[in-house]
Amino acid sequence: MSGARHFLTLLDFTSGELEGLIARAIELKEMHKAGQRHEPLRGKVLGMIFEKSSTRTRVSFEVGMAHFGGQAIFLSARDTQLGRGEPIEDSARVLSEMVDGVMIRTFEHEKVERFAAYSTVPVINALTDMYHPCQLLADVQTWVEARGPIRGRTVAWIGDGNNMCHSWINAARQFDFRLNIASPEGFDPDPSVLDAAGDRVTLTRDPHEAAEDADIVTTDVWTSMGQEEEQKRRLEAFRGYQVDAALMAQARPDAMFMHCLPAHRGEEVAAEVIDGPQSVVWTEAGNRLHAQKALLEFLMG
Ligand code: CP
Ligand code: NVA
Repeated sequence: MSGARHFLTLLDFTSGELEGLIARAIELKEMHKAGQRHEPLRGKVLGMIFEKSSTRTRVSFEVGMAHFGGQAIFLSARDTQLGRGEPIEDSARVLSEMVDGVMIRTFEHEKVERFAAYSTVPVINALTDMYHPCQLLADVQTWVEARGPIRGRTVAWIGDGNNMCHSWINAARQFDFRLNIASPEGFDPDPSVLDAAGDRVTLTRDPHEAAEDADIVTTDVWTSMGQEEEQKRRLEAFRGYQVDAALMAQARPDAMFMHCLPAHRGEEVAAEVIDGPQSVVWTEAGNRLHAQKALLEFLMG
């Protein structure tokens, strides 16, 4: 309905634009560390709609807007008319009259698509049941700033074929790396997302096979937000899919361990791995700030 660019999945941007964002994120991080002020969003406001909990996403967007001289406002479904059934389309048009960008964390991916269709300001997906593209910007940045280009590298995804897995699949397409997924039967990624990635992405039941010679080993919780009542069944299904030292030993000796967090030690990852020398999870979390600043500058600057 409007010419505003949105970031609902990694496929909304070209590979070149994504590469540009990563380079800019690294630059913005250096500028911030050097104490350099950069306020391209002075006077601008980001509306942040949260229908699920968050620590990293909320703080990184809020701090990013503060660094840029703008402001962010937190809108929870519980305290707004969204939670009382005001149509998404109406909310999108109302917020477009007031704010300069909107960030949404919700359940159905279709909700952010509907919101974006009626929004005249940029809309950012801050996690849906299907995708978590902002996290992937930070994850790719974490690799690139330490090791250089990710093109041609191998990533192993161990565990649930969930929103993070789907975004890793899209990242493999856009940044051109190999992705080996190991998930238990019944927890595969969405076939349409998987098939679109072609032979760059493989699916196996064997975590050790997936991790072989990987440059990055990554995982996520076995029970995502909104799936709490399935927890018991999931704990059983995912037994054998923990990223532990033996699994890391299959990967390259200098492989990085990544996790979007929050993590459950003793479930999807062993403490020895997430708290060990190959783990980059704290840098990865910190890079949410810098990668999203690059995104905000691109969309709202
Ligand atoms: N990784 C991530 O999105 O964390 P939060 O749920 O804390 O925002
Ligand atoms: N898959 C997790 C990611 C949390 C950042 C969830 O959706 O709960």
